[in-house]
Amino acid sequence: MEKLVITGGKHLNGEVFISGAKNAAVAIIPAAIMADGICIIDNLPNIEDVASLSSTLSKMGAVCENTDKHTLRVDSTGDITTYAAFEEVKRIRASYYLLGALLGRYKKAEVALPGGCNFGTRPIDLHLKGFRLLGADVRVSNGTVSLNADRLVGTQIYMDQVSVGATINIMLAASMAEGTTIIENAAKEPHVVDTANFLNLMGANIKGAGTDVIRIRGVEKLHGAEYTIIPDQIEAGTYMIAAAMAGGDVTVRNIIPKHMDSLTAKLAEMGVKITKDDDSIRVIAEGRLEGANIKTMSYPGFPTDLQPQMTALLSACSGISVVTENVWDNRYQYVDELRQLGARITVEGRVAMIEGVERLKGAKVSATDLRAGAAMVVAGLFADGVTEIDNIKYIDRGYEEIEEKLSKIGASIKRVEC
Ligand code: UD1
Repeated sequence: MEKLVITGGKHLNGEVFISGAKNAAVAIIPAAIMADGICIIDNLPNIEDVASLSSTLSKMGAVCENTDKHTLRVDSTGDITTYAAFEEVKRIRASYYLLGALLGRYKKAEVALPGGCNFGTRPIDLHLKGFRLLGADVRVSNGTVSLNADRLVGTQIYMDQVSVGATINIMLAASMAEGTTIIENAAKEPHVVDTANFLNLMGANIKGAGTDVIRIRGVEKLHGAEYTIIPDQIEAGTYMIAAAMAGGDVTVRNIIPKHMDSLTAKLAEMGVKITKDDDSIRVIAEGRLEGANIKTMSYPGFPTDLQPQMTALLSACSGISVVTENVWDNRYQYVDELRQLGARITVEGRVAMIEGVERLKGAKVSATDLRAGAAMVVAGLFADGVTEIDNIKYIDRGYEEIEEKLSKIGASIKRVEC
């Protein structure tokens, strides 16, 4: 077991290079199994979730090879089993994308129910509803989802709730259905667009990704493709928030600034100086920032995956801030940990009320999930003295070389054996 040890109070200065987007990677790797050919996926983040999915595809019969630490070659031309109920499948939430990919190509799938971060009920009813509407027989028993279809036929699917996972999963299956599928009230996140772009390169016919109506005309076959994953907006946002909290002058590079609009607007409102370039954003923060109110929403709203990091920042800003979590029903488990550091936060249902304090004090805390872990890192960079974060396996699921990237910009952070 390992932990991160941070000595807070150091200003951050320099450049951080952002890795490829985790949430695009975990959709695009399963999508590669739909190709009757070889896919080369580049700019993959070197993180646990990517390694687990690559190992899952190998167990299913694809030949996966890391040609370098950010590039995966997937050859799915051999015999592929449609059964994926292995241990690593249960660990990652996004393994549900195997359902859509296998259903699309093979018209059947047997996949273990997804695990992943636990922040409230994480149903997949909308995914299953979509598969049913396309013509699949759907059964759930003993923690496994089984899908079977003689044929898939395109149809109109209205999403009761905006769901990234359901939108992508239906897009995957519908890419190889007969006729046209229309997804209404679709999610517009950058990783939805990225997955659609990858599928289109493989020969799919998807239009409208990035808007709330996506039209998919099914094709009989998908071929191999070479693709570069977009930068990770949540990793970029985490470093921007870290710079705002610790103070300093940090440029996050290799990003798409447009994807960061909701965060840059909020940080500017709080007193952070922001300058944008074609593929970078510079964040300059001096002194105490003003508190602000945040409401999480689907893209282009403020991302729920930056909510814990932002709450950490707000805990040291002036005045009272209110955070409203509109996406997940239990995403404040980390608040107890922030309180250990001296934060003053009360939570009622979906709303957190934060009374900003001038100083936080280092303590022993735990990463209760991936982004909660990132929030502990952000807080630890600011807190006086030493902060020790355990349970960092969560952080490793989504952040590539976090301590190296932070050390390079002046943080005192190291990984040690517990
Ligand atoms: C994805 C992200 C996750 C992020 C979330 C919201 C990945 C791998 N994960 O998760 O990091 O926090 O988007 O931006 O991309 N819902 C249902 N029924 C369903 C599916 C979802 O009710 O079948 C609800 C959920 O409970 C939640 C909301 O819809 O309240 C949004 O969930 P969704 O967008 O599906 O999240 P994920 O795709 O799982």
